This record gives sequence, C-alpha cells and structure tokens, in this order.
Amino acid sequence: METKRVLVVGGTGYLGQHVLLSLSRIKDSAPYDLAFTYHSNSNLLEPLLDAIPHSHAFHVDLTTGDGFQSIASKFGQPHVVVNCAALSVPRVCEKDPDAAMSINVPCSLVNWLSSFEERDTLLIHLSTDQVYEGVKSFYKEEDETVPVNVYGKSKVAAEQFISKTWPNYAILRSSIIFGPQTISPVQKSLPIQWIDGVLSKKEQVEFFHDEFRCPVYVKDVVTIILSLINKWIIGMQLHASIFTHKKTTCFSPTLINYTMLFTLDISLLALYFLIFPAACLPLCFDIGSGPIIIILVVLVLEGKQMKLLLNVGGPDRVSRVQMAETVAHVRGYNTSLIKQVSASSVYRGVSSPADISMDISKLIQTLNISPTSFRDGVMLTLDLT
Ligand SMILES: NC(=O)c1ccc[n+]([C@@H]2O[C@H](COP(=O)([O-])OP(=O)(O)OC[C@H]3O[C@@H](n4cnc5c(N)ncnc54)[C@H](OP(=O)(O)O)[C@@H]3O)[C@@H](O)[C@H]2O)c1
Repeated sequence: METKRVLVVGGTGYLGQHVLLSLSRIKDSAPYDLAFTYHSNSNLLEPLLDAIPHSHAFHVDLTTGDGFQSIASKFGQPHVVVNCAALSVPRVCEKDPDAAMSINVPCSLVNWLSSFEERDTLLIHLSTDQVYEGVKSFYKEEDETVPVNVYGKSKVAAEQFISKTWPNYAILRSSIIFGPQTISPVQKSLPIQWIDGVLSKKEQVEFFHDEFRCPVYVKDVVTIILSLINKWIIGMQLHASIFTHKKTTCFSPTLINYTMLFTLDISLLALYFLIFPAACLPLCFDIGSGPIIIILVVLVLEGKQMKLLLNVGGPDRVSRVQMAETVAHVRGYNTSLIKQVSASSVYRGVSSPADISMDISKLIQTLNISPTSFRDGVMLTLDLT
C-alpha cells in the first residue's frame, strides 16, 4: 500500500516541531512520508533534519505561495496537511494587520491544494481560543465568534475561508499551548518556562487574576492531531478498498459476505450496518475498537470529508495567577512572590479577551481523549515527574 504523505506547514515553529517529531517516531507498520515548510528560520533546520532524517524541508512563503510548486513536484500531493504556520503573537499582529491576514488566512495553501485533481487532502488547521470575546466561561464551538484583536480576527477569517473553500478539514481552536522546548529551540518565550524563570529570581512579579484560559499540554495537541490523521488515513484506505473492490483486512471473513461488499452501493452497506448490527460486531474485534469502526463508517458515508471544528484545551480553567501558583507549588517557590493585579492595569499593545475558557466535551467525545491536568502538564514540562 502507498505510504501516506503528511506535510506540516510551519514545521519549524513550536507546535510544528512537536508534531513532526511525534509523526517520525510512530513505530506502526505504516509510517508516513514527512515533509515540512519553514519560512525565516532556516537556522532551525539542521537539528530538525538530524532528528527526522527522512523528512523533506521546503521553503514556503504563505503570503505569496512561493514554494508550494516545488513541494508538488518533489513530494507530491499530501494526503494530510497540518497547518501550524501563523503570525502567532497577538501584539505583532496588532502592529501589522495586513501581514497577520495574509499569513494567518491560508489562501495560498488552499489555492495550491485546489490545483490538484483530487480535492481530498485532509487539512488540519490550527485556530485559537482568541476567536471568542471572553465575556463568559466555557465557550462551546457553536458560540458566536467575536474576536477582540487582529490576531483573533485573522483566525476567524481563516476558519471562514477554509470552511467555505476546502471540503475536508479539521479546525482546532487551541488554548495556550505549553510544554517542553523543541528539538531545535524556538526563540519565543514559552509560558511555563517564563513563569519558572521569573519566580526563580525570588523577586515579586505581577500576574493577572482576571484573565482565564484552559492551557493545553503540547503532547495532548499532538495526540489530537495524530488521532485525526490516523482516522482519516484508515478511513481513506477503507474507502479505497470498498470502491476499488479490493479485499481489506478490516472486514471479518466470518460474518460479512465479501461478495456483498464488492457489489453493494455504499448506502446499502450503511443499511447492512443498521439491520445487522450484531453481524458487524466481529468488525469491531478485527479492528480492535468499536467506536473506531463507527467513525470510519461515518467518514465513508460522508463522502470522505471531515468538516470538524473542535475546541482544544486542557481540563482546567485557570487564571494567570493560578498558572503562576501551580509553578510555584511544584517548584517549592514562595507564592507571596506572586502579586495579583487586574489585566486592565497593564497596557500590552493589544486587547486581550478576559475569559476564553472553553468547553472541551466535544473533543473528548469525538476523539476519546482526556487531556492532561494543568498541574501534571507543568510537572512534565519542568521534568519533575
Ligand atoms: N503556541 C500557542 O500557545 C498557541 C495557542 C493557540 C493557537 N496557536 C496556533 O497554533 C499554531 C502553531 O503555533 P506555534 O506556537 O507553533 O507558532 P510559532 O512557533 O510562532 O510558529 C509559526 C510557524 O509559522 C511559520 N511562518 C511564519 N510566517 C510565515 C510565512 N510568511 N510563510 C510561511 N510560514 C510562516 C514560521 O516559520 P519560520 O519560523 O521558519 O519563520 C513557523 O514555522 C498557530 O496557528 C498558532 O496561531 C498557538
């Protein structure tokens, strides 16, 4: 079977590197062909290519689309694109809204994907919790998006653009991502390491008591992305095997009549599942898990399109003060160093939503994933476990 091609756009960034490394370490029978893009940080390439020797690096500028044709000719159409590229610092977006829009709304990427005959590449796109206004707690995916800054506005525009123009996508609205440094260290300050650094100086530091987030451990975000890729690839293989009338090991030879599968239309296959659920049980055992087969069937029946929007956060709603207190507790620092102030007392050059904590029940139900608690994630980040 053809090895599936995964392209990580923004592979030199914080999340991109974590995704690439995890994809390269899958010990499964079906490892992926990996490629990634970089933009300005070619200095990060060497350690990354050393860690992932069989990957391909391409220079791409999302503002112009330069570089995508080279990927098409040397790597081919990806089966999956994970878009981690962005102008991801809200303050920088606020200063240069045009740059924010042209990088964060992935027009050139989607136009490039549209140039292929098959419009079936799965696009996993990173959005943000900053699409929400921040005036209540535990936002749900269906809540209205009211971004209060340019970064959030560019991310809303990206979500709308993708959902209108690309048929097969998963949009992940992520909260603050925290975790260990990357294999090729990124220059931007990482949240837990920054808090640890300032508290370790034993000087009093101000933290906001009225800004709430659901920070998510980076390896959980990676697990979510890997799970989506996996489901999509398995779904594609199942789809291909049904439509090309090939025998697939997913189907139990005992109770499913192969002849039926070869000749039946996909809707009749659905009917078969509805009428003979008991007969389909062996499928679940063959593939190892009941819910997976149900998702696969849904994928197949939906005509190979995902169209998924998920809040991606950790299980804990915490203020900046609580984030700092957690670091102080696990490190044994004096919590009196943490001075509580209101976010309104400091001008940061950009509006920041107050409470954009998110309801993550859809994430848990869809992917059967339980994100790490904030405290455990901090311990893992600081290597204290
Ligand atoms: N980190 C978080 O806490 C967080 C929270 C919520 C959502 N997100 C979202 O998650 C995604 C990943 O975040 P991150 O923290 O990993 O971002 P990051 O570290 O800032 O990485 C950004 C990536 O985008 C690339 N890039 C920048 N400008 C580009 C351009 N003009 N053309 C092509 N590539 C360009 C960068 O390449 P070079 O480095 O080579 O220039 C880098 O690989 C982003 O969409 C971000 O908005 C992140």
